[in-house]
Amino acid sequence: MRNLIDILDLSVSEIEELTQIAEDIIKNPEKYQEKCRYKKLATLFFEPSTRTRLSFEAAMMELGGNVIGFSEANSSSAAKGESVSDTVKTVGCYADIIAMRHPKEGAPLAASFKAEVPIINAGDGGHNHPTQTLADLLTIKMEKGGFDNLTIGLCGDLKFGRTVHSLINAMSRYKNIRFVLISPEELSLPDYIKKGVIEKNNIPYTETRDLEEAVKDLDILYMTRVQRERFFNEADYIRLKDSYILTLEKLANAKKDLCVMHPLPRVNEISPEVDEDSRACYFKQVKYGKYMRMALILKFLEVEI
Ligand code: NCD
Repeated sequence: MRNLIDILDLSVSEIEELTQIAEDIIKNPEKYQEKCRYKKLATLFFEPSTRTRLSFEAAMMELGGNVIGFSEANSSSAAKGESVSDTVKTVGCYADIIAMRHPKEGAPLAASFKAEVPIINAGDGGHNHPTQTLADLLTIKMEKGGFDNLTIGLCGDLKFGRTVHSLINAMSRYKNIRFVLISPEELSLPDYIKKGVIEKNNIPYTETRDLEEAVKDLDILYMTRVQRERFFNEADYIRLKDSYILTLEKLANAKKDLCVMHPLPRVNEISPEVDEDSRACYFKQVKYGKYMRMALILKFLEVEI
C-alpha cells in the first residue's frame, strides 16, 4: 500500500509514469470514466481549500468513483477532541483512499502509520504539498517539454510556502537546474531546504529581494501568496503581504517564453492584467492538477489501465 506524504515518495520514473497517464487521460477521457466505479475517496480537510479538495473530488468523479469527507475541522469529530489517527482509522472503514490536509506539519505522516488505506498529503502546515507539485510538474512538462535545463525563480513567501518546498525537492532530481530565490529576508527559504536540499544536491542558486532584476534570466517564475495563517502576528503580515506584485511592466524584460506559475489562491501577488499575457500559466496549472490527481488515484488504487 502506497502513501504520498512527500513528493520524494515518488521516484523520477513514477513521476514520468503519472505525467504519461495524465496526458493520456486528457486525450482519451472516456477510457477512464468507469475505472474507479464503486471506489470511494475521502477528503479530510482540517484547513481551508478550494482547488485541492475540489480537484481531488472532481478527479474521483471523472473516474466514476464516489467521494465522502469534510471540509473543515469543526464539522468533524476533531472538534470533540478526536485524534487524527482515530479519524483516519475510522474513515479507512468507509473509503478506499484518503486525501488529507492539516495545519500541523507531519499530521498526514502520523495518520499514515495508522491508516489501512493510502494517505495522500494534501498540504501539512508550512511543510509540504506534494500533489500541488504534481500539478506544477505537468504544467512544466507541457510548457517546457521536460524538466532539465531550467532556471526557476521562486518568489514570495518561501518560508511558509509549502508548495515551494515540495517543488524544490521535486526539481532537485533533474539535470542542470538553477534556482533564484526571491523574497524579503524574513520570508526566506528555511535552511533545512536551502542547505538540506539545494546545497546538498550541488544545485546553483542565488538569493535576492529584487524581482524585476531577477526576472530576465528565468524560464519559470513561481509566485506565491504570503501565508497569513502561519504568521504569529498580524502586523508582520501586513508589513510583508504586498512585498511583490507582478505586473506587465515588471515582465517587460522577461523571456518571451517565460512560464508564470502560482499555486493559487492569489491575493495581490499577480495583477489581473497579467492573466491575458501568453506567459500566464496559473489557470492551466489548475486544470493539470485534476489530471495528475486522477493519475495518482489510479496508481495508488492499483487500477489496471
Ligand atoms: C496552496 C496551499 O494550500 O498551500 N494552495 C493550493 O493548494 N493550491 C497555496 C496557498 O494557499 O497559498
